[in-house]
Amino acid sequence: MKFQSRAGCAAVLASMLFAAPGLAQTVKVGAIVTLSGPNATLGDNMLKAMKLYMKLHANDLPPGVNIDLITRDDTGPNPDKGKQLAQELIVRDKVQLLTGMTWTPVAMAAAPLTKEAKVPMLIMNAGTSVITTMSPYIARFSFTLWQSSYPLGEWAAKHYKTAYIAVSDFGPGHDSEAAFEKGFTAGGGKIVGKVGIPLANPDFVPFMQRAKDAKPDVLFGFVPAGKQATAIIKAYGELGLGKTGIKFIGPGDIVTDEELPNMGDVPIGVTTVLHYSAAATRPANKAFIDAWHKEYGADSTPSFMSVGAWDAMDALYYVVREQKGKIDPDRTMELLKHYKNPNSPRGPISIDPETRDIVQNEYLREVRKVNGKLANVELETVGTAVKDPWKIFNNKK
Ligand code: PHB
Repeated sequence: MKFQSRAGCAAVLASMLFAAPGLAQTVKVGAIVTLSGPNATLGDNMLKAMKLYMKLHANDLPPGVNIDLITRDDTGPNPDKGKQLAQELIVRDKVQLLTGMTWTPVAMAAAPLTKEAKVPMLIMNAGTSVITTMSPYIARFSFTLWQSSYPLGEWAAKHYKTAYIAVSDFGPGHDSEAAFEKGFTAGGGKIVGKVGIPLANPDFVPFMQRAKDAKPDVLFGFVPAGKQATAIIKAYGELGLGKTGIKFIGPGDIVTDEELPNMGDVPIGVTTVLHYSAAATRPANKAFIDAWHKEYGADSTPSFMSVGAWDAMDALYYVVREQKGKIDPDRTMELLKHYKNPNSPRGPISIDPETRDIVQNEYLREVRKVNGKLANVELETVGTAVKDPWKIFNNKK
């Protein structure tokens, strides 16, 4: 610009002005997450990541293309509410893409609508394996419980003989149970008892008592991350399971990073498998954590759900960019099927084009005190580029 003539500048300006209205394109995106009720922190952590991504990547869309993020609160794992919100977003608000999905029951309720209306859905959390098979318009950017609990079962069989299983009585709990049991028993481990815990307002004490009475080497547990994780860890501590030598293991949900400061010292030594730890030292995670602290304060910690939301936003921006804001559902799915990011905060990720499910590394972690604070320290990578094992074992697409 500096060396151009005035006439040249005017011509450039004029072309920008005239071109702009033709290019202006707003992509409407509906995000359903949990922002109220006992699980409100889950959606809050997801929404914070979405907003941070949008702020830091405001210049990564083609000129004139905008994203209008319409957020709706499902208030918890409530399929009826989830379905109603998805319907409203599609029919009334005319969203072109759906995202969020804190919960499996909500994602399952919305799945048939994505197919009927051809509205692609980018899952940011819900982790039950079967969800992606319910509609060709779904791609998942989070995890499956099979991805974490199956390798944990294999690892546990090398170190322990007996296990007791306690899981929340809904999709992800059933998946984590089946996955752990398969890995553990294939390696020679024995399951000495099992219990399902209600999803709504659980009191964990009686379930912990039953686990204690069974005297296993390890207790394998899954509950939704957030306040339930803190509650089950506290019940484990109060009943003294750790003192009697019963080790607590599970998918990383039970020691979710953002709740560690609320758990006291009880979780020290809890061993889990997950695709993400806020304490991971890879450069992409350090940059993510720095950006998060700058935006939300040094005491705020992103969760694995934040990273699911962050990565889904990256894929969403990619499909918007590639289509210059003109969203075609089938082209969107083709793009999502081949999405890759070698540099997610969790490590390299991609979408499996056959299943539309996430492919990622899984890390064995242990809760330790680092510089006076609890952290999920990554000890080893127990799986590289892990595809959903449930789909492999059951030949599902
Ligand atoms: C799910 O509903 O799929 C879900 C919820 C919370 C978790 C994991 C999975 O921590």
